[in-house]
This record gives sequence, C-alpha cells and structure tokens, in this order.
Amino acid sequence: MSNLLKILYNSGDWQKHTADAIAVGIYKDLKLSRQLQGVNRILGRGLSNALSGNIIKGDIGEVKIVVGKKGLIAILYGLGERNKVTSETFRIAGGSISKTCIKNKIKSFSFITPIDIKDNYMHQAAIEGLVLGSYQFNELKTTDTNNFNIKSATIYGIRKKVIEKGNKIAQGVCLARDLDNRPGNIATPSHLAENAKKIGKEGGMKVTIFDRDKFTKMGMGALAGVAAGTDVPPKFIIMEYWGGPKKQKPKILVGKGLTFDSGGISIKPSSKMDEMKYDMCGSGVVLGVMKIIQALKPKINIIGIIPSTENMSGDKAYRPGDVLTAYNGKTIEVLNTDAEGRLILADALSYASKHYSPEYILDFATLTGAVVVALGHVATGIMGTNKKLIKKIKTAAENTDEKVWEFPLWDEYLDQVKSNIADVKNVGAPMQAGSIAGGAFLKSFVKDDIPWCHFDIAGTAWGDKNISYQNKGTATGEVIRLVVNLLGI
Ligand code: BES
Ligand code: MN
Ligand code: ZN
Repeated sequence: MSNLLKILYNSGDWQKHTADAIAVGIYKDLKLSRQLQGVNRILGRGLSNALSGNIIKGDIGEVKIVVGKKGLIAILYGLGERNKVTSETFRIAGGSISKTCIKNKIKSFSFITPIDIKDNYMHQAAIEGLVLGSYQFNELKTTDTNNFNIKSATIYGIRKKVIEKGNKIAQGVCLARDLDNRPGNIATPSHLAENAKKIGKEGGMKVTIFDRDKFTKMGMGALAGVAAGTDVPPKFIIMEYWGGPKKQKPKILVGKGLTFDSGGISIKPSSKMDEMKYDMCGSGVVLGVMKIIQALKPKINIIGIIPSTENMSGDKAYRPGDVLTAYNGKTIEVLNTDAEGRLILADALSYASKHYSPEYILDFATLTGAVVVALGHVATGIMGTNKKLIKKIKTAAENTDEKVWEFPLWDEYLDQVKSNIADVKNVGAPMQAGSIAGGAFLKSFVKDDIPWCHFDIAGTAWGDKNISYQNKGTATGEVIRLVVNLLGI
C-alpha cells in the first residue's frame, strides 16, 4: 500500500507549524482573509505578489505553489465560489494537494481549513481527499527509483474525531483499491479470504470460509458450476460483525469476488480481457467497508458475504446449456458462461436470505458491460425491491458524491429471465436491457420480504474519471463511502 498514512491533529497555532509546506484555501473572489494575510506575511508578501501576477484563480481543484522568502512554501488550494462550497469541493481540493505534493516531492505539509467552514462533513471530506489523492499502486514495481509518497499531514482547524473518521474511511477505500488493482494471479480467492481473516481478527469479527468441497456439499451449485473450470481454489467467505444490540437485525453486504473473468467457454474477446482482473471489485467494496467497520467499531450488526472464484474454460468447465441448482433450490439454465457473476451471487443471496433475518441486503458487482453503455463511467446502476431503501441509498449517494441511477425492475423484465426448461436462465432478451436482466435474475434469490438493492459497479469500479482523488485507469473504491454513509457511521 502506498498512500498517506499519518494524518496528525494539531490544536495549536498554525503559524508555528514546522512542516515543509502549508496548504491554505482561497476562494474565487481572491479576497485575502485574515488567515491568508497571515500566510502572506510569513511568505514576505509572496502571496500578494502571486495574486498581482494573476497566477491564482481560486478554481475548485486548482493548486498553486507559492514560494516566499527563505524558501517557505505555501500550497494555495482553490475553493471556487464562496457560497457554493460543498464537501466535494474539499475532497477535490484535498486530492489536488496530495497529488501536487507527490509531484513536487514535498514530504510533509500542514493543512489549514478556511475559518468560515465549520461543517464536520466538509472537514471529513477534506481528509478523505488528502488520503485518497495520495494513493498510488506501485507495489509491483521493483526498479522505480521515482517512488515517492508524503510522510505526514498536520491538520489545523478540524476536530480530532473528524480527522480520524475521514482518515479511517479513506484507508479502507485504499485497502480495497489495493485488492482491486492486484492482478488475478495475486488477488486470488485465497488472497481475499486471507484479507477477510486479517480484518476479522483485528475487528473482533467471526470469519467463516467454505472451500470447494464444503460449499458444493452444502448445495451451492451455481458457485460450484462457475468454479468447475479452475484449479485455483474458490472460496465462500462470510464475515460477521456483531457490534450492535443482539436484537438488532443485521445489514448484509454481498460482493462479487470473481478474481478473473475470461468468460469461460463463452470466451471474451482478447482485447481488454486483462481488465477482468477487476471483476472482484464488488468484494473490494465489502472488504473496504468491513475494514472501516474494524477501524471505527460502530454499534451495529453487519455481515459481509463474498463468493469468490475465477471463471475459466477447459474440459472441466461448465457449459452453455448446463442447468445448475442454486442454494435456494432454484434451477438455472446457463445460456452464456460469461454471465457468471449473477450465478455466484445467486448462492450468496440465497445463503444470506436463509441464514439471517436481515434489515436489508445490498449486493455489489461488476455485473454487466451494459451498465457502461447506459451510464458510462459516471454512475453506478442500482435496482431493488424496496422504495424506502432505494431512497436512503440515493440520499447517501448525494451526501458522498458517488452517483447512482435507478433502473426499474418491472415484471416484464422478470419474465425475460424465465427459462423454458429450468426456473430461470442467466441471460435476458438478446441485446436488450442487459443490466436490468442481471438485477431481475438476482431477485429470484432474495427472499421476497427482505429489502434488497443491487449495485452494478461495472462502470464505476475502475477509473475513467478525471478527478483528483482517483487515478485514471485504476480501481476507484467507489460506493464504499456511500455505504458507510448509509450505515450511519
Ligand atoms: N464481468 C463482466 C461484466 C463486465 C464487462 C464488467 C465489461 C466490466 C466491463 C460480466 O461477468 C459479464 O461478462 N457480463 C456479460 C453478461 C452477458 C453475457 C449477459 C456482459 O456484460 O457482456
Ligand atoms: Mn463474465
Ligand atoms: Zn464477470
């Protein structure tokens, strides 16, 4: 893992800070607040010189380095228009600051918040941005001498608790990004299981792992079917955190942990097939959230479930036409072995429905290419059975600036996944409503009275966004913050 780890709280006077640089915010009106006047004084009027040179615009995400007398460095971060500041403004600013420090090899900096901003959530977002923006996936480079990360950030003007919360949330996202970014030969189902055990041990959770023999005997025919084509041991992972009152119903998070998706016998085209190492990003969401739970120890009950395997072809692999029996007894006609995510989730959702009486179930999966066609890399597609839950999810998404868009699960779509020879088939109508077909299929495996929502993160789990606190072309860890917000942590 390479990201900023040390975020220090300081209740003292920022003017006495000792870091290599000081980061300070400026609005688009470029007015020198008392705080900025202070920085200007320390810099020997460096700031007013830069302003008269029209170097600083104050735009959101903009970061300019101003060097004052004796080489003192100020990092000016733009905040846009004074009355339009949101938490996302601060997250973006934080990300830009860290990226600038890495680029300029600035080892430590102090961060001061504008005095007029007192909102805890905006403060938290700034911390999240600082950490997330510092993330780099470089653990597999052995000869890169340019490796650099920030050693520490000292924060002035934010409560200690808020700093810790923002930091812990962002560290959880970074852990998920690491797991997501690791290729299929490293991030195997066993690797995910080891990580689950480690998090569980540190967080007082009960972690149970079923291997191939066990889950096959238990009746998880769908996971067993997908896993048939690989010798890499598949796993069914359960993490239980009982931090709340005994009587409180648990919330269940299910994540697709497909560590490499070749498509199986219905093999994928070779171009971009490497990206299918990201097909376990749903499990990344679950492990990221559980890591945050471990760090923050909230008083809630929460269960994480990860069905995990590769999807490969070969003489042992499952075939198009095969009929599999899922854990809830329903039969599935496999018409395309590349629609494997919904199969492994079928067993996980059935297991969750049977063994717990949850308040709700959420599942996360890089389920369909079709969601990228519908929403691009901008939003996660969501669909579910409970209006209240969906509404809460939309509110959480607005809070954390991780966009979601709801698709309908009308009966017409449920009809499209009915099979002629089995209960359901794993594809919908050809070339139509592909993401909804995925959701419609999953619905058969959730008990009707359990509120449930499916998140199709195929477009958002790895990056195409030009955003300071994500890295283009690598895992984003999106919707982890959303879930944490939804859980009310
Ligand atoms: N993992 C893929 C979905 C995917 C594709 C995610 C591209 C991100 C980028 C999933 O297992 C899959 O292959 N889905 C098929 C379903 C189809 C065969 C019904 C798809 O989307 O083509
Ligand atoms: Mn597939
Ligand atoms: Zn897949």
